[in-house]
Amino acid sequence: MKRIAVLTSGGDAPGMNAAIRAITRTGLEAGLDVFGVRNGYSGLIDGDFVFLSRRDVGGIMQLGGTMLGSARSQEFYTEEGRRKAIENLKAEDAEALFVIGGNGSQTGAFALYQMGFPVVGVASTIDNDLAGTDVTIGVDTAINVALEAIDRLKVTAESHRRAFLVEVMGRKCGFVALMAGIAGGAEVVVIPEREMSPDEVAAQLRAAHERGKGHAMVVVAEGAHNNAQRLIEYFEQHPEGVGFKLRATILGHVQRGANPTSRDRLLATRLGEGAVRAWLRGEQGVLTGLQGNRVVTTPLEQVVNTHKQLDLSLFDLSCIMSM
Ligand code: F6P
Repeated sequence: MKRIAVLTSGGDAPGMNAAIRAITRTGLEAGLDVFGVRNGYSGLIDGDFVFLSRRDVGGIMQLGGTMLGSARSQEFYTEEGRRKAIENLKAEDAEALFVIGGNGSQTGAFALYQMGFPVVGVASTIDNDLAGTDVTIGVDTAINVALEAIDRLKVTAESHRRAFLVEVMGRKCGFVALMAGIAGGAEVVVIPEREMSPDEVAAQLRAAHERGKGHAMVVVAEGAHNNAQRLIEYFEQHPEGVGFKLRATILGHVQRGANPTSRDRLLATRLGEGAVRAWLRGEQGVLTGLQGNRVVTTPLEQVVNTHKQLDLSLFDLSCIMSM
């Protein structure tokens, strides 16, 4: 019987479990044996494998995190490490490896593919910074966690007539910040794709106060040059004020731990199934993603060498809505 392996790698993203489940059940339905690799590429190098049955992947879809564990492996960056990984896969008679993860993980998958091992990627990261897909598994949940925090902070901001600064994750990409900012009605959004000086942030807050706003929200992407830390320092050094007293919250990993939304579960299920079907059709060295609501594959070479652009018309929209 043909065998396939699946791993999750990089930062965990809500919906990874649903993708493991979809790959496992689609594989089993197609008559394949499926085994999971524990702890991402580290586990691949250590030969840490576990067979997956339909029941093994039951009851996990609604859970955040990844039942297989995840890691960032330094050893995998070396050719020696990757050679070991391929030897282990071959020793288990695996004919393909399915990699559920983001940019770094798909770069690793591409490196394995270049060394001759068949891989298929599944787009998953809360950052949504991966080319080849409109949307990645996990980003919807991460935005919703950020949004819930913003909504709650707005309540206390309003009571105290304060401004709040909320920093959200996203690595070098401002997608999560921008989406949460629009949906949360932020007065200011600070993202790496549209850098803003602390003076500008202060001016916008002052202007919001002058327009009669009773509170204000600044959503900052962690990857912006003027991240929360820098903005806090600036406001400490400029006590002249903007009309509001300011407080800051850095959400960090809280965004990764939630149960996946229905959107992420459905996306993960579709992409997981699509990845196995693509391999059964003979595709390899590709990323499975969603474009215009269709499951599509894109060569990994293209994915890892393309910088995904943020739609900046949405930034303009956030500015109009903040008035
Ligand atoms: O790539 C996902 C992500 O959560 C980023 O948003 C964040 O910058 C990074 O991972 C954090 O990595 P770690 O979990 O290794 O601290």
